[in-house]
Amino acid sequence: MNTEPEKGSRLNKKLAVVIMAAGKGSRLKSSRPKVLHEIGGKPLLSYVITTAAQLAENEDIHVVIGHGAERVRETVGGTGVRFVEQKQQRGTGHAIQCAREAIAKYDHILVLSGDVPLIKVDTLQHLMTLHLAEGAAMTILTATQENPTGYGRILRRAPDLPEVDAIVEQPSLKPGQESIHEVNTGIYAFKVGPLLARLDKLSNKNAHGEFYLTDMAEHLRAAGEKVAGLLAASAEEVRGANTIAELVALDAGLREATANRLMANGVTIFRPETCVIDAEVEVEPDTIIEPFVQLLGKTKIGARCRIRSYSVIESCTLGNDVLIQNGCIMENSTVMESAQLGPYTHLRPESEIGPHAHLGNFVETKKTKVGRGAKANHLTYLGDTEVGAGTNIGAGVITCNYDGTRKSPTRIGEGAFVGSDTTLVAPIEVGDRAYIGAGSCITRDVPAGALAVGRSRQVTKEGWADARRARNDAEKK
Ligand code: UD1
Ligand code: CA
Repeated sequence: MNTEPEKGSRLNKKLAVVIMAAGKGSRLKSSRPKVLHEIGGKPLLSYVITTAAQLAENEDIHVVIGHGAERVRETVGGTGVRFVEQKQQRGTGHAIQCAREAIAKYDHILVLSGDVPLIKVDTLQHLMTLHLAEGAAMTILTATQENPTGYGRILRRAPDLPEVDAIVEQPSLKPGQESIHEVNTGIYAFKVGPLLARLDKLSNKNAHGEFYLTDMAEHLRAAGEKVAGLLAASAEEVRGANTIAELVALDAGLREATANRLMANGVTIFRPETCVIDAEVEVEPDTIIEPFVQLLGKTKIGARCRIRSYSVIESCTLGNDVLIQNGCIMENSTVMESAQLGPYTHLRPESEIGPHAHLGNFVETKKTKVGRGAKANHLTYLGDTEVGAGTNIGAGVITCNYDGTRKSPTRIGEGAFVGSDTTLVAPIEVGDRAYIGAGSCITRDVPAGALAVGRSRQVTKEGWADARRARNDAEKK
């Protein structure tokens, strides 16, 4: 049986989600729009959109953008959500006023804040269920905050009734109201009819000179509509990110949850508080992650791997039984089973390291395929290169893939031996089983099974050094 709730329809036929994301976030003191600040390696707004997409079709998700609108559009436009522009940010009420046309065709809207990223789908479903069951015009998701300073406070009709009389913003608190710990989370369900009918009643005659969406509670109440409040089970998931300190705290909490998820799946993470692991990272059981490791982006790691300290792995796929020694930097690359890298190997984008291959210290690859069991153990640069299975690349080998204008490929066959300190001037091909003498500068293709030596022949003069020393000593006397 399919137990997945059908989007938008289980709760109501016509539900839209409006995400308020136009604010500047003055308290962050940043030139980047607030909702594009990242936690767990992803922008705040991406989390909210992912959650909203579980409740409504993407075309029924309307994001109110304003500050840095183009950057926000570019970052999340790929999801297929709709955008509403709020050219001047005159408050949360004004944000919804700007979305008036977009929401007119729906029965209900769920309003989310772009800066409250950890809200869970279950909680939003509870909110919608209560909203519909109560027949409310507005249902507010509330939370109990130990330190409620800065949040809007909830004025309940009576402690045990769902009805709310008003939300009072911090600067408008009357004596005694500071001690109210039930706060507004900035998340609401609205019946669209009554909302649109009273939206123009909002005024900006308050401490911030803004149109507060929170004032709708009082306006709807005054019109005889029902306003309800649902207390969220945990204050954690409704925490906002208004300051850098709050952002960093959210980030830490999310990463702790990610590490716990991986450990519950059989991954050992020593000193997880020192590791930086992005929210979408996947790791298979019996892999060991040492302290101070960063696993970023959509990195996937197989079973029984070991990732040693100070390695930074971004958007890579690693097979089973891979060993990453200390200090490797890897980006957008694939490492197949039982390969060994490092210490200090640098995989730049589009590197593909074959099974059982070894890359050692100060080996850098870019757009390079290394075959099964091939080795490059020391001080090597391989760019735009293919290395066949079982080939040995000596210390200090360099592919000269760039002539100042163009990049050219190097192809090295299987079972070949490239002597130390060889420079391979691309485009060039080295055949299977070929052997290149150490210190060669290879400028022409080497056929399979051949020996190539590209260096000047050694000259040895017997007794020359001793004779010069004797001459020098004689001159000094
Ligand atoms: C708001 C609530 C407050 C609540 C808190 C919870 C109001 C007036 N106050 O305060 O009761 O306790 O959230 O986190 O709503 N935005 C726009 N356009 C604007 C202004 C804001 O889109 O003109 C967006 C922001 O980008 C943000 C969200 O609305 O994502 C909330 O705005 P913010 O300024 O952070 O409100 P708070 O002061 O946190
Ligand atoms: Ca906020």
